[in-house]
Amino acid sequence: MTTTTNKFFITGGAGFIGGNFVHKVLGAELGPVLVLDRLTYAGHRATLRSWEGHPAFRFVRGDIGDRALVRQLLKDFQPTFLVNFAAESHVDRSIESAEDFIQTNVVGTYALLDEALRYWQSLKGVEARRFRFHHVSTDEVYGSLGTTGYFTEQTPYAPNSPYAASKAASDHLVRAYHQTYQLPTTLTNCSNNYGPYQFPEKLIPLALMNALEGQPIPVYGDGLNIRDWLYVEDHCDAILQVLAHGERGAIYNVGGNSEQTNLDLLQALFACLGDQADLIREQSRPTVAQSGTRTDIDYRSLITFVPDRPGHDRRYAIDSSKIRRELGWAPKETLRTGLAKTVIWTVKNLAWRDEVLQGTYSGERLGQSKAARD
Ligand code: NAD
Ligand code: DAU
Repeated sequence: MTTTTNKFFITGGAGFIGGNFVHKVLGAELGPVLVLDRLTYAGHRATLRSWEGHPAFRFVRGDIGDRALVRQLLKDFQPTFLVNFAAESHVDRSIESAEDFIQTNVVGTYALLDEALRYWQSLKGVEARRFRFHHVSTDEVYGSLGTTGYFTEQTPYAPNSPYAASKAASDHLVRAYHQTYQLPTTLTNCSNNYGPYQFPEKLIPLALMNALEGQPIPVYGDGLNIRDWLYVEDHCDAILQVLAHGERGAIYNVGGNSEQTNLDLLQALFACLGDQADLIREQSRPTVAQSGTRTDIDYRSLITFVPDRPGHDRRYAIDSSKIRRELGWAPKETLRTGLAKTVIWTVKNLAWRDEVLQGTYSGERLGQSKAARD
């Protein structure tokens, strides 16, 4: 980052990756932050509580599709960077209903782009040159791979879930706003993230929650689907590199070179849990302790095979050589070190998990009912 003050308008900053990004920007004193977040089931003030009252931090609850609000915020805050993390992000929920995914990921991104364009066109000189609209996207837009090969930035889009299709649509809008209006956009397509503050509906935080409670860990299908895992802070660093040095209109694939079958990933997670047996014993709440603190358990015995996710992509693997070569980015964490950090954070932050789960989700299977009905 340059020494000139950068102002960060961060949408979806109360979610998992956005929240980690806010912590990084404010922690490194990179500039003032304005978070716009609707606080859906996945967004929580608790994630940002440590920054409440900080002079460089402001939070607004609202929808990226609320054009009047977005317009006013852009006018008042005058951001250097607009980083769009706001989205519906869970594949299983998109299988239940795509409605919210279309509204936020497609219609909301469109509204945000259009207001960003209006704002950017009002800027002059250096402010106009420095402004960037960064869109955070996913490798799922590329579809599913066979046993070999990697997604590159040239791989044709072939989204398979309603979630992936909505993200693909938003990516195309970003591209169109750059091509048609020269809006200075950048876009990253990233692989599976894990780390602190991830809502416990996704595989790693769900498996951790269930392992710590001694509950069954659902594995879809044969457990041999492959994902490429990246520690969330490495993803946030990649976005910062793109903001600082990315070319206007450019797309960068971001990944961890860390492909795992779901079963192998769970084995790695269990090994980290085993390493933290003392911490788990110390931190366990009385309710867990009473039902038997799960440090002695063979976590593998909790694995429970369940019917497959409809349309389940078999393998993702990402070629991130462009961002490595052009921007000098590389992940700092290996899967083992990243998982160890995640396990330690989770065990020390059971109260965060309890708070965000209140009345929203209790680990039940999602994404089956509609497919079964049809
Ligand atoms: P998340 O579900 O944890 O957080 C999404 C946030 O967006 C929440 O705080 C939510 O309240 C907010 N939000 C939802 N709809 C909104 C709206 N209409 N207006 C304002 N705020 C709204 O998601 P995440 O995992 O942090 O993902 C963030 C972005 O990164 C998404 O665009 C996702 O597609 C992308 N991504 C995620 C991963 C991953 O592994 N989690 C990997 C690659 C890309
Ligand atoms: O690849 C990037 C994407 O990674 C992001 O765009 C999405 O926002 C994010 O949710 C993630 O999508 P996945 O569908 O890959 O993540 P999820 O954690 O839901 O599932 C990971 C793998 O684990 C997948 O093969 C399905 C499987 N799975 C998942 C859950 C929740 C299980 O076997 N059991 C489960 O209970």
